[in-house]
Amino acid sequence: MKKLTVLLASSEVVPFSKTGGLADISGSLPKVLKDDVKIIVLTPYYQNVDLSTYTPQVLKAVKIVMAGNNYFVDYYYFNDENVTYVFVKHPFYERENYYGYHDDDERFFLFSYSILTYLKRAKIKADLLHLNDWQTAITPFLLKTHYRSDPLFKDLKTLLSIHNLQFQGSFEKDSFKYTNSAFSYDYIHFERVNFLKAGITLANKINTVSPSYQKEFQTEYYGFTLDGALKSRAQDLKGILNGIDYEVYNPETDHHIFFNYTKNSFISGKKNNKLALLKELKLPALTTLPIVGHIGRLATQKGIDLMLATLEETITKTNAFYLFLGSGEKKYEEFFLYLMHKYPQKVFTHIGFENRLAHLIYASSDLFLMPSLFEPCGLAQMISMRYGTLPIVRETGGLKDTVIPYNKYTNEGTGFSFKNYNAHEMMATIISAVNLFNNNQPVFKSLQKQALNQDYSLKKMGRDYLNLYQEIIKEE
Ligand code: GLC
Repeated sequence: MKKLTVLLASSEVVPFSKTGGLADISGSLPKVLKDDVKIIVLTPYYQNVDLSTYTPQVLKAVKIVMAGNNYFVDYYYFNDENVTYVFVKHPFYERENYYGYHDDDERFFLFSYSILTYLKRAKIKADLLHLNDWQTAITPFLLKTHYRSDPLFKDLKTLLSIHNLQFQGSFEKDSFKYTNSAFSYDYIHFERVNFLKAGITLANKINTVSPSYQKEFQTEYYGFTLDGALKSRAQDLKGILNGIDYEVYNPETDHHIFFNYTKNSFISGKKNNKLALLKELKLPALTTLPIVGHIGRLATQKGIDLMLATLEETITKTNAFYLFLGSGEKKYEEFFLYLMHKYPQKVFTHIGFENRLAHLIYASSDLFLMPSLFEPCGLAQMISMRYGTLPIVRETGGLKDTVIPYNKYTNEGTGFSFKNYNAHEMMATIISAVNLFNNNQPVFKSLQKQALNQDYSLKKMGRDYLNLYQEIIKEE
């Protein structure tokens, strides 16, 4: 079979740019697909993107017209280990943040045009556009209205991956002028232009990043008003579980942690890391107490409101250390800083992102808290298990699909979970997990061993996407 040519477009790609898990997947998926697929990754050239170790070629001043105005983008492209990377350069992307500006509609309309324009200019006949989240979701509409008559685009198929349904690219109706076409309900949702709605309506297939979330996001509770649109595409929806990079996250070789360890030496390995980390963070050097870690974006999605409600009480009721790393909404940042100031012997908070500290927390913690309100997949719980750290999760989306809750009758499990979005259920679950650590080490260790034996590597994810690509191509 001929190798498929796939252009994967994403507004964030590790190691070049990142605000969330989208970046990890856009970075790792091409690497596992490159042997089977000719893959081109296209992404904005943000001002913090560092290409100094590459030697890109440049396609200069390529004209794109929107709403009667000319825009000129430069394409920086190069090959790295069999993946082609293309960076779209325009002053629009040279700002402090990636998103959150008054002209995001114009910025990401331009980015979406730049996907199709690149194929045209480089004369690449691709088989499939793999689009990710709202930032590229309007592309199937542009393809349909402006490109189909061109032989290069006649058979081009589209896949939309939804990593986050909450952010939809919803703009004033007036921004439809950037479509360069007559008004269409394909992209209108509640009287606003909605990028994601367009993608859901027009992509050949749509996937999200776990089987459970695929079911959930078709319901009103989880659907962020797009449940109807999703349900109407039920035949074309897939749930593909994310994976994590087992080379980046590997306790045997991880150079960020103090002591490397294997599945067989995790008990002493984790203990040594714990001791060294507690010392570095100037907490009491007590390895007999568990560490509860939390790393992530401080956003409503992540269930931080539950923590606001009962975490302080939980801290006072448990004999454990709590380590928090993340940034996001001010009120959440202040809460975690408050906890550290109030309980300096038990709590450590770092606001911001520090990769080394993240690895150290994964390796040194015994428990990892992730009580999300909704979670398309979630990566941190899988990383935790990879380090023998037991996740405490709410049973939602990908968390439900990846964490086996502790069963006290069979001693089966890779973590702890609770069902309802309820702060006292969360507190009870944390307390019983801490108690298990403090009172029943043999069982706790057997759970850690089970967690260490899970396989959430990228391989399976790569296979699933490849199958989906082939399924899409085969369809008429
Ligand atoms: C988003 C989702 C997260 C998912 C990630 C990668 O960040 O919130 O659940 O794991 O995208 O798909």
